[in-house]
Amino acid sequence: MAFFKDIFAPNGAFKFYIAGQWKESDSGSTVDIINPFTLQKQYKIQACTPEEVNKCVDQAKAAQKLWAKVPLWKRAEYLHSFAKILRTNKDPIAKCLTNEVGKCLKDAIVEVERSADLVSYAAEEGIRILSVGRFCMPDCFPGNGRNKFCLASKIPLGVVLAIPPFNYPVNLAVSKISPALVAGNSVVLKPPTQGAVSCLHMMHCMHAAGFPKGLLCAVTGKGSEIGDLLTTHPKVNCISFTGGDTGIAICKRAGMIPIQMELGGKDVCLVLEDADLELAATHIIKGGFSYSGQRCTAVKCICVMEKVADALVKKIVDKMAKLTVGFPDANCDITPVISTVSAEFIEGLAMDAREKGARFHQEWKREGNLIWPLLIDNVTTNMRIAWEEPFGPIIPIIRIKTPQEGIDHCNASKLALQGCIFTKNIDNAILMSDAMESGTIQINAAPARGPDHFPFQGLRESGIGSQGITNTINLMTKTKSTVINFQKETYTMG
Ligand code: G3P
Repeated sequence: MAFFKDIFAPNGAFKFYIAGQWKESDSGSTVDIINPFTLQKQYKIQACTPEEVNKCVDQAKAAQKLWAKVPLWKRAEYLHSFAKILRTNKDPIAKCLTNEVGKCLKDAIVEVERSADLVSYAAEEGIRILSVGRFCMPDCFPGNGRNKFCLASKIPLGVVLAIPPFNYPVNLAVSKISPALVAGNSVVLKPPTQGAVSCLHMMHCMHAAGFPKGLLCAVTGKGSEIGDLLTTHPKVNCISFTGGDTGIAICKRAGMIPIQMELGGKDVCLVLEDADLELAATHIIKGGFSYSGQRCTAVKCICVMEKVADALVKKIVDKMAKLTVGFPDANCDITPVISTVSAEFIEGLAMDAREKGARFHQEWKREGNLIWPLLIDNVTTNMRIAWEEPFGPIIPIIRIKTPQEGIDHCNASKLALQGCIFTKNIDNAILMSDAMESGTIQINAAPARGPDHFPFQGLRESGIGSQGITNTINLMTKTKSTVINFQKETYTMG
């Protein structure tokens, strides 16, 4: 497509983005991206060198100083322009998502549209949050100090390193980039390998929006080769990462900079005896199987009261029979999982459960990376699937005798991102939400991150630092105070 022509290199690989230009890496090496459905090489990206990474960070550092002086309304204007270009190009970007992360086409288009909405909202929220500072009066705190007052404002952190995951490469890139930029930071983007080409297309939309040179860059390559350099770089002032266990290691090495991590979830769905079972089953299908369960917020464990378990299972099984399985371009509900490693991991969890006595409601079926949806019943806590995150289209069910058993299971999980409760008793739901130690509890709906301005955070090993547009803007700024001191002992306003 003519609009994106600059990002193609003559050797068929996509270029990386540095100093406002698209370039091939001096390494002369590329990294292959495998199509999850065909298992063939789909794209190639540059394997950037450490020198190129350093150059990107240096330029981001220098450009940020000037960007912080660009008026807030103007920064917001750039973002609005980017959102518009992103929306105009949703179809080619969605096609890349389909090819490299196997997302069905209609969901891929939704991802790009949602991203454009997020960028615009971040621009406006930036204006709302950052245009107002604090004025602190001296006479509300005991002791000395009535001869001074404080002016506090939010200032940028500097260089933000954004590392999105494969499952929402565009959306989770912009959820980091737009709050960073509106707050006056510069951005170094390290796309996931699978998802990189979609990210580069998104970056080209930013390029077209005319952001100053050097303010943004996208470095591609193997995490194992440039990841450590980026995440321990002394000129990086904030890391926003979404992904797996790697995040824990990044956290430990990050040093004294703000970090935002989302590292997965084992989201428990608690179904009580008084639940609307039709509603619960509908949400379990959507929450458990959209994008083939490859969402941090997917329903990953159903804890249902024994008395209603059979009725709930019947409804879920009936609905599962209607799910279509196949090619992402054909808009099937269940598409191939991201890699063969992932497919094998999912199979391992299912087989472990079967060997330990779980009951499969469907036949186990896998072709390549395509896994047919599976409901695994009578799961017990000695099975890996009770605790581990499959990131695939299989859902375990634990039958419980008391609601407390479900709460205990939720609280014993390391990946406490979200959870949900289905009940008609709202008083109970609120008490149980308090008792469930997870970042978010949804009442009568499946876990979900959106709307994108809502706070979104995991507890324990699921993450650190709250997300959502508003919280991210706050996280990517620091407070600067100026205290004005008067020579007179007593100062009063008015
Ligand atoms: O896995 C990414 C996580 O942020 C989920 O987002 O919108 O599917 O709930 P969402």
